[in-house]
Amino acid sequence: MVVNYASSSDGANRVATDIVSAGGQAVAVRGDVSKAADARGIVDAAIKTYGRLDVLVNNSGVYQFAPIEAVTEQEFQRTFGINVLGLLLTTQAAVKYLGEGGSIINIGSVASRLTPANGAVYAGTKGAVDAITGVLARELGPKRIRVNALNPGFVTTEGTKAGGYVGTDFENTLVAQTPLGRAGRPGDIASIAVFLASEDSAWLTGERLIAGGGLR
Ligand SMILES: NC(=O)c1ccc[n+]([C@@H]2O[C@H](COP(=O)([O-])OP(=O)(O)OC[C@H]3O[C@@H](n4cnc5c(N)ncnc54)[C@H](OP(=O)(O)O)[C@@H]3O)[C@@H](O)[C@H]2O)c1
Repeated sequence: MVVNYASSSDGANRVATDIVSAGGQAVAVRGDVSKAADARGIVDAAIKTYGRLDVLVNNSGVYQFAPIEAVTEQEFQRTFGINVLGLLLTTQAAVKYLGEGGSIINIGSVASRLTPANGAVYAGTKGAVDAITGVLARELGPKRIRVNALNPGFVTTEGTKAGGYVGTDFENTLVAQTPLGRAGRPGDIASIAVFLASEDSAWLTGERLIAGGGLR
């Protein structure tokens, strides 16, 4: 497995080491998905290391919530550049190598459907991810490549901790709307990604799986 990172080599190396300790194979590779050459470099590293590509998980993403009055051109370009253009560029690089049985998993967000206040830019990117997922499912179906979106609700991650969302009214409000009554954990999402990567989901493409403990 290629574990991509943009800035935090420590975190990516830790993930790769954990995978190897558990009996798998993994390498950490730097690359900014919003740059075409880097996106190609990430995919090329997989081909160079393993000789093939079976699954692409488009997980890289950034989020910042702000009222419409505070939306800036710069934040729009950064968020769409990573969440949308980055997803397109890595997918473009990967489709050269993905063959029959390949699976692309786009990490979207419940935000595309929940449309939370102050989330115009972020929810906009995830609405685009939903649409692109549907388009590419049709476009790549003839090659027997599946494309699905996995849309988490609120998850406790390094990003939501660093962004100051964990333990706030923002989290509490979302958890209060979550039938299963808690924030998500990375493992809640990972097990669904494994399902979407595997043959167990061979008849699913163009789907949007909402993984939010019932939050929608
Ligand atoms: N946490 C939630 O509540 C939640 C809910 C719904 C959807 N999501 C989605 O889930 C995904 C992961 O979110 P998270 O909460 O786990 O965030 P996170 O902890 O901040 O992780 C984001 C990841 O994206 C990488 N990244 C950022 N910019 C990149 C770039 N230009 N090129 C390549 N990689 C880049 C980061 O790498 P570095 O650390 O190296 O910069 C990091 O590995 C995102 O797509 C997010 O929108 C999250």
